[in-house]
Amino acid sequence: MKKSIVGSHAEYKQLESNILQISQEAKEQKRKYEDVIDATVGMLHHENGDVFKFEVVEKALKNLTDEDMYNYASVRGKKTFTEGVLDWVFDDNAKMIREDFKYSIIPTTGGSAAISNTFYNFNDFGQKILLPNYYWSPYNNFALEANVKLETYDMYDDIGRFNVPAFRKKAFALAKEQGRLCTLINDPCNNPTGLCLEKEDWVEVIKILNEIDEMDIPVILIHDIAYIDYQMKDVNYSRETFSTYKDLNEDILTVVIFSGSKSFSLYGFRVGAQIGISKSQKVIDNFTRVGDYSVRGRFSSVSQPGMNVIDNIFNQKNLKKRYNEELADARKILKDRAALFLKEADRIGLEILPYCGGFFISMLTDNKNIFNDLKKDHAFVIPMQGLIRVAISSLPLVDIPELVRKLKKHI
Ligand SMILES: Cc1ncc(COP(=O)(O)O)c(C=O)c1O
Repeated sequence: MKKSIVGSHAEYKQLESNILQISQEAKEQKRKYEDVIDATVGMLHHENGDVFKFEVVEKALKNLTDEDMYNYASVRGKKTFTEGVLDWVFDDNAKMIREDFKYSIIPTTGGSAAISNTFYNFNDFGQKILLPNYYWSPYNNFALEANVKLETYDMYDDIGRFNVPAFRKKAFALAKEQGRLCTLINDPCNNPTGLCLEKEDWVEVIKILNEIDEMDIPVILIHDIAYIDYQMKDVNYSRETFSTYKDLNEDILTVVIFSGSKSFSLYGFRVGAQIGISKSQKVIDNFTRVGDYSVRGRFSSVSQPGMNVIDNIFNQKNLKKRYNEELADARKILKDRAALFLKEADRIGLEILPYCGGFFISMLTDNKNIFNDLKKDHAFVIPMQGLIRVAISSLPLVDIPELVRKLKKHI
């Protein structure tokens, strides 16, 4: 018998991107029936259904020179872009990062490629990456593609906060079992739940990582900050947690995942970066060596216009000022929707998971048929990991009371 056309390592591959399929279905239904509510799309939309574009991004895009628009980008991108990313991400803590750490910034095709490359390069095949039990489902694809697996811990403690003891227990067990700890934390504004770690949670996480490092075990912290600009407390709150990095032990590698998708609405441009940080030059040299190689080996380089637009905004004062104003508008859209959702949920007794920001609000459910029940009722949400995820990013205010009512009915 002939062997399969597919390589044996690829036989398992079957893209089950229920998110994209459900979104597609919701759109089709909405064309047929006026009352369909579509809360599936993880892109920020205006109340009238148009995608939220930053005018400053659009203008900067139109003003690009031919060279900045069409040429191949270098593997490393321009220094003005990468240094701008560092300043944007760390803000008040950028100085501390520059002084206390060695760092290297590798542009990638979106945050997705930054995660995918990190999974691939900092684990042995077959090893497990530790993350909480509620996570963005594409992490599964990145893991399988990198020949690694995922291991989870319970994200919430009894009072709905980040479960430090559960993290500690699994982190030690996994580190001892495989002689390596690679862990991913999506914070602030976990996708799908909207949970934010408190600063003291980060202090504890870092203590645990240090203890494991002291056992002479390689430790890699992947910090996915895709929704950092949509946290609903004070604007600086998200960035303050970076001050806890200061206590990281020398040999630990932290890879912060930057994404241009949510912060600039440049979803389709595929701009992101791996920001590698360590107190050890050797660790960073290794990070850069394997990272550069993977960029060239997997996708060659990153979108030149996408990087240059972000570069121009970071480095031109007037553009940055305008951008910050528009970002405040974007946050306000989300904040108003979240406030109404929480108010309505409270009013009719729909229990939701603690939300502190981001594009999604979630609620636990035991109803295994919830997706179909809601669909029959003309409401589309994403079912995942024992919960349902509501994308308030694409949910106009007018639909919120009705959706909350339907959720309560079927949950
Ligand atoms: C949690 C999380 N991380 C990372 C990303 C990466 O996005 P992109 O590849 O578009 O930069 C997303 C996008 O939806 C996300 O939800």
